[in-house]
Amino acid sequence: MEMFAAAALLHLCLCATAETFGEDFSETALTAAPGDVSLLPCYTAGNVTPAFTVWMKDGRELLRGWGPPPGRLAVMHDGSLIIRAVAPGDEGQYTCSSTLPGNFTFHGRVLLQVTAGPENVFLSVSPATTSNGTVVVYRGSAVTFNCSGTSYPSQQLTLAFRGSSSSNDSLVSGSGDWLVFTIEDIQPSAQGVYSCRAHNDVSHETVNRSVELLVYYVPDRHPECMWSPTPDPSQIQFNCSWFGAYPTPTLSWEDDPADQGEGRVYAKEVTDSLSVTLNRSVLFDGQMLRCSPRHQAIAPGKETSCWFALKPPYPEGEPLATAVEATNVTLTCTEAVSIPPAFTTWRKGLKQDVIVPGSKYVLSEDGPVCKLTIVNISKDDEGVYFCRSENPLAVRDLEVYLTVKASSEYTGAIIGVFIAVLIVGSAAIIAKTVYSSRHRICLGTDFRRVEEDRGDVLSLVESDDEQIFQDAVPQLPPLSNSFHTTLVQIHRIPSSDHDDAETTAASPEQQEDTAEAEEPVDLVTF
Ligand SMILES: *[C@@H]1O[C@H](CO)[C@@H](O)[C@H](O)[C@H]1NC(C)=O
Ligand SMILES: *[C@@H]1O[C@H](CO)[C@@H](O)[C@H](O)[C@H]1NC(C)=O
Ligand SMILES: *[C@@H]1O[C@H](CO)[C@@H](O)[C@H](O)[C@H]1NC(C)=O
Ligand SMILES: *[C@@H]1O[C@H](CO)[C@@H](O)[C@H](O)[C@H]1NC(C)=O
Ligand SMILES: *[C@@H]1O[C@H](CO)[C@@H](O)[C@H](O)[C@H]1NC(C)=O
Ligand SMILES: *[C@@H]1O[C@H](CO)[C@@H](O)[C@H](O)[C@H]1NC(C)=O
Ligand SMILES: *[C@@H]1O[C@H](CO)[C@@H](O)[C@H](O)[C@H]1NC(C)=O
Ligand SMILES: *[C@@H]1O[C@H](CO)[C@@H](O)[C@H](O)[C@H]1NC(C)=O
Ligand SMILES: *[C@@H]1O[C@H](CO)[C@@H](O)[C@H](O)[C@H]1NC(C)=O
Repeated sequence: MEMFAAAALLHLCLCATAETFGEDFSETALTAAPGDVSLLPCYTAGNVTPAFTVWMKDGRELLRGWGPPPGRLAVMHDGSLIIRAVAPGDEGQYTCSSTLPGNFTFHGRVLLQVTAGPENVFLSVSPATTSNGTVVVYRGSAVTFNCSGTSYPSQQLTLAFRGSSSSNDSLVSGSGDWLVFTIEDIQPSAQGVYSCRAHNDVSHETVNRSVELLVYYVPDRHPECMWSPTPDPSQIQFNCSWFGAYPTPTLSWEDDPADQGEGRVYAKEVTDSLSVTLNRSVLFDGQMLRCSPRHQAIAPGKETSCWFALKPPYPEGEPLATAVEATNVTLTCTEAVSIPPAFTTWRKGLKQDVIVPGSKYVLSEDGPVCKLTIVNISKDDEGVYFCRSENPLAVRDLEVYLTVKASSEYTGAIIGVFIAVLIVGSAAIIAKTVYSSRHRICLGTDFRRVEEDRGDVLSLVESDDEQIFQDAVPQLPPLSNSFHTTLVQIHRIPSSDHDDAETTAASPEQQEDTAEAEEPVDLVTF
């Protein structure tokens, strides 16, 4: 027992040395933590064993006597008071009176303080993900810090911040078991080390816990996909850039997984800007080449990427051309579909010699149209020409056969035919345009309504009312097609008065009205 007590005493903090006021008085201050074994001394000046000791706490008698003690509190042989497991509430002022041999009484006083902690000091951050000892939050979120700890009897909690651009030794502080601090709309400047400091008011012990907070963010815009040609037309460089993300994103160039490419990845790297050079062996028609950034700060479900839907070139034009000697002829070739854009050239003859622009050949470009003008046509110019379009996916040729006619014999006939073709052709084009735009309107969103209106028209025209109308108005001129139209319009405009219109149609006033408006043109404008 004594060994146990002695060992436990090592935990005991003897904060102030005993002060003795005269021979019969001593004052001691002690600090103990809950659970400690604490020994409160009484008479320590000599080797004498007291005959009898009384211990009081805060003016009330606590224990008296001596001898081997049973409870939590006991008076030892030497008159000291042992507390086998200090508990909160044991703090206070203890006094002892020891009767020493020779009927001499000794008085002692012990101030016991019970303190604990700070312990269980934590700094939690929410919402946050922890990675590798750091805490990650996303720009714009509301972040709550909870600094907590326990101390007995009381503590001071402080939340401090140290960042690269600014620091604040005390964002917030207070007493209590916990302290919360919220940053709404957190910004990268709030990145840094946050410390939760707990200070025990009595023992003056301080414990601090720190977390390193990282503020991740991504730019609002999409990545930018670009292509640039290479000296070899069968190769192309794709470049994807996405600046303004922290930390650096992972970019990849890959086929859309839904494609035949089976989600092939051509390049993948932790970078702001990723370029990859691809050649014909991996490119195909309809390929969806996509650059997708990966980053923790991309909100779930918010896809951000840029892509190219690749298409081989497709040069289009008239395969046959005719020219008259000594005139100029222009061959045209349209390349409008190629992605990435094709490089288009004109070539001549079966050997496909590249045509070099000069006095004989004039090359010009008008948007997607690539024109070749051959000046002062001669019989030698007759033959096959190629409009060759090449992009990194493929090479495609448009073959144009040029026929040259002698000027004297055929000029008139050809011009005549040409004009005739022109007239018929333009008429056809106009007709086609008109037809197709009408078609488009009919198939538009109002299609159903158009159908319904037509239903009205039919029912009116076919109804017996029309017969009544005709019979009742014998003085009217014979009904013409345009009048039918007029009649229909009168009934359709006030559609809610449909029935009224039909019934009043036979009334005399209505007859007059209608008769007055016998000119179809007036009624149409009605
Ligand atoms: C001790 O002293 C007290 C008074 O101080 C007295 O009452 C008592 O009788 C004394 N006892 C002896 C044994 O002398
Ligand atoms: C984690 O921390 C260690 C040591 O600080 C570092 O070497 C490592 O790169 C970190 N890993 C990540 C994923 O940040
Ligand atoms: C702060 O943390 C403490 C200890 O974990 C907890 O008891 C307390 O409820 C928390 N306070 C808030 C506001 O979350
Ligand atoms: C530290 O933060 C507190 C609470 O946000 C604020 O009142 C105080 O002005 C700040 N001090 C400095 C030096 O930024
Ligand atoms: C908190 O503790 C760390 C060591 O763990 C120390 O470097 C830092 O100065 C302490 N901060 C405060 C405010 O006591
Ligand atoms: C890709 O584009 C970015 C942004 O325009 C540029 O900084 C980078 O140099 C380009 N990379 C290559 C290889 O062209
Ligand atoms: C085309 O690219 C593939 C892989 O990207 C490479 O193996 C091949 O040699 C390249 N071919 C040419 C002609 O550059
Ligand atoms: C044919 O083209 C040349 C060169 O562009 C031009 O000088 C000439 O006037 C043109 N002739 C005709 C008939 O258009
Ligand atoms: C056109 O070509 C013929 C020979 O084919 C030549 O005699 C004539 O001078 C040329 N005309 C012009 C305007 O160059």
